Amino acid sequence: MHKYVKRYREDPFFRSTWNVIFVQTLFALLITLVCGFAIYHQQQATQHIIDVRRAAVAAGQTLNPQTLDAQLYSLRNNTLGITLLVLIVLAAIFGYLSGAYALNPTRQSLGFQKRFIGNLAHELRTPLSIIRTSSEVALMDKSLNDYTRSTLNGTIEELDRVSAIINNLLSFDSLMRPGQIRFEPVNLHETAHEVVARHKEMAQSYGIALALDATGEPAYVLGNKVALEQVLTNIVKNALNYTPQHDGRNVVVRIDDADNQVSASVIDTGIGIAQKDLYYVFQPYYRGDTSRERGIGSGTSGLGLAIVNDIVRAHSGSIVIRSALNRGTTIELTFPKADTRNYVKAIAKSEDDDQEYQEDILTRRA
Ligand SMILES: Nc1ncnc2c1ncn2[C@@H]1O[C@H](COP(=O)(O)OP(=O)(O)OP(=O)(O)O)[C@@H](O)[C@H]1O
Ligand SMILES: [Mg+2]
Repeated sequence: MHKYVKRYREDPFFRSTWNVIFVQTLFALLITLVCGFAIYHQQQATQHIIDVRRAAVAAGQTLNPQTLDAQLYSLRNNTLGITLLVLIVLAAIFGYLSGAYALNPTRQSLGFQKRFIGNLAHELRTPLSIIRTSSEVALMDKSLNDYTRSTLNGTIEELDRVSAIINNLLSFDSLMRPGQIRFEPVNLHETAHEVVARHKEMAQSYGIALALDATGEPAYVLGNKVALEQVLTNIVKNALNYTPQHDGRNVVVRIDDADNQVSASVIDTGIGIAQKDLYYVFQPYYRGDTSRERGIGSGTSGLGLAIVNDIVRAHSGSIVIRSALNRGTTIELTFPKADTRNYVKAIAKSEDDDQEYQEDILTRRA
């Protein structure tokens, strides 16, 4: 017995199983009680009606049988109605309790997992940046031979890749708290311009033409600049990663400014996404077959689009993906247009928290 009590205290799954069993048993007991009481009440009330009528007959009164029928029907319907209502309320309450108990360990382990990922990523950042700096310092030595130089460059490249994955993990962790995003009018056109400029070099080295297609007019959405930059960065990076290199392909980022919405589309002419993968690409850690089979995007975490999805949702935006295998992919994001004349800053949390969040993301990006 002591063994089970100990296990109940220590094992959340064991505890939640027994809690659910307890709640369900209590529910069954209450149903039995309610039904028993309803039957008892029905019998008592029927007996009372019969007694009253017997007394009336004994007193020499003539009774109409239809009145008896009406009385009995009304009694039955009332008892049935009230019993059903009580049972429905009980089922809702106990259903909620069972669900809460059953999901409790999952909720706890998800919270633990998020904290763990966040802490681990934070811890890894410092040693990685130290190794990167040391490698860069070592590279300054003019007397290095070619082999050592290329090994150090390779190390730096790998470190950058690991850092990108860690940044994604960190953003994912913090974006699970969307209440902390600070909103203000952001010129999506300018953001797209910056993201395209930042990826020009990468596109050039891949032999892919990267261009911005926009009128140049400001296109404001109410959002968080850092987060929106990250959205476009993740999608542009995907477009470049999943487009065959040195094959005359191109990637275009297009901004469309309509009456009450602004959309940003990233159009590539790459490997495309298989129909069956389309349903899953927004799930954390999911990597499509096409990219895995072809070894494209090795070292990626499968978090990019999950982050995009979270950020776009937090901005009340929508995402549409159109893709054809070996022909290319278009990812279109649409956001409500910001009213820049008269906007109220939507700060979900306190200024302090917000500041912390901004700094957090900025340091991670650095
Ligand atoms: N433009 C694209 N063309 C083809 N496939 C794509 C494209 N964008 C995404 N995918 C597919 O969707 C999957 C999920 O993309 P996501 O950006 O979430 O993860 P990732 O690129 O694998 O890793 P990460 O972005 O976290 O480094 C990719 O693995 C790839 O298979
Ligand atoms: Mg990606």
